Amino acid sequence: MKLLVTGGAGFIGSNFVQYVLDHYPDDRVVVLDKLTYAGNLDNLLRVQDSGRCSFYQGDINDEALVERLVPGVDAVLNFAAETHVDRSILDASAFIQTDVRGTWVLLEAARRHGTSRFVQISTDEVYGHVPQGSSREDDKLAPRSPYAASKAGAELLVQASWVTYGLPSLITRGANTIGPYQYPEKAVPLFATNALDGQPLPIYGDGRQRRDWLYVDDHCAAIDLVLRRGAPGEAYNVGAGNERENLDVARTILALLGKPESLLQFVADRPGHDRRYCLDSTRLRALGWAPRHDFQAAMERTVAWYQRNEWWWRKLKTGEYLEYYRRNYEQRHALLRSS
Ligand code: NAD
Ligand code: TYD
Repeated sequence: MKLLVTGGAGFIGSNFVQYVLDHYPDDRVVVLDKLTYAGNLDNLLRVQDSGRCSFYQGDINDEALVERLVPGVDAVLNFAAETHVDRSILDASAFIQTDVRGTWVLLEAARRHGTSRFVQISTDEVYGHVPQGSSREDDKLAPRSPYAASKAGAELLVQASWVTYGLPSLITRGANTIGPYQYPEKAVPLFATNALDGQPLPIYGDGRQRRDWLYVDDHCAAIDLVLRRGAPGEAYNVGAGNERENLDVARTILALLGKPESLLQFVADRPGHDRRYCLDSTRLRALGWAPRHDFQAAMERTVAWYQRNEWWWRKLKTGEYLEYYRRNYEQRHALLRSS
């Protein structure tokens, strides 16, 4: 197969490109990525010698470019997105432009060219806060952050393309993913790299919020299975069953790195913070998927990677990152002081 992977220079996208090239010796991949602050060609260094991956720097909103790349591919996998909840709270405009409009540009090109599969990479956050039990695919979408609302908007357009035009599209809704090459603004790489530097780990609110921590290789295997064996028009939850409180996650990272718990630093909570996500992945398991990494294994592999690959993350924690860090965290410290 020849695949168009948008957002293939980001965290999950680049791991997926490697997964496909490793598992399917005849497959070829075309990556389209804008290289925003989160995109990084270092993430694709490991596949550059394969001879089966080509890279285009560009925006999924660029209709002329998309029109050039979509003909001749068997499938489009849309990983491209603005992805960080805290940034969406500061300014949501890029989220609406990329996550919603950009998805529509890709869907329209896929429809015009009769692409045989369109896989939309979505998130458990579209269900909103889940106080108890677990979300099933037919539950209503109730997004609460601007990021989650943008991803839900994209999903509705994907569904509309299937229902209205018969575009064979599928949706995956993945849980919080961890592993190598994740930009260090997300909780786990941020905690790990701060801990390695002896810096505080900022814990939002009481730290009792719960997430399901999915190892990136398990997420990639699930997306690949949905691509090849999923039913068009369906959505598939991808949850690992590794539910933990954020405080447990931070403490696990400190323990793995031999750092003291005095590095935990409580800061003001995220506005509208969803306290819990939890997925029922029965539908995906029926296709033959099962996660291979429990919480401890996923955390050990992830933390060890950041420990060994300072060359990758050290240069990211400069410039724009520091500016964002200041905007996001200074405000949280100030709020905490005034409350
Ligand atoms: P990421 O932020 O690491 O990567 C996003 C990539 O998209 C970057 O390479 C960026 O340059 C690219 N991009 C952004 N805007 C673009 C545009 N307009 N045109 C082309 N490329 C653009 O994100 P990630 O964590 O790898 O997430 C990938 C996908 O998986 C996203 O759609 C996200 O919503 C979804 N997802 C992520 C998680 C998670 O825990 N990280 C969980 C579930 C679902
Ligand atoms: P994050 O990695 O941003 O993923 P998401 O918000 O998409 O689930 O955050 C994971 C959890 O960690 C979430 O409950 C927010 C919390 N968190 C902190 O407590 N401190 C931080 O500095 C960050 C970035 C997140």
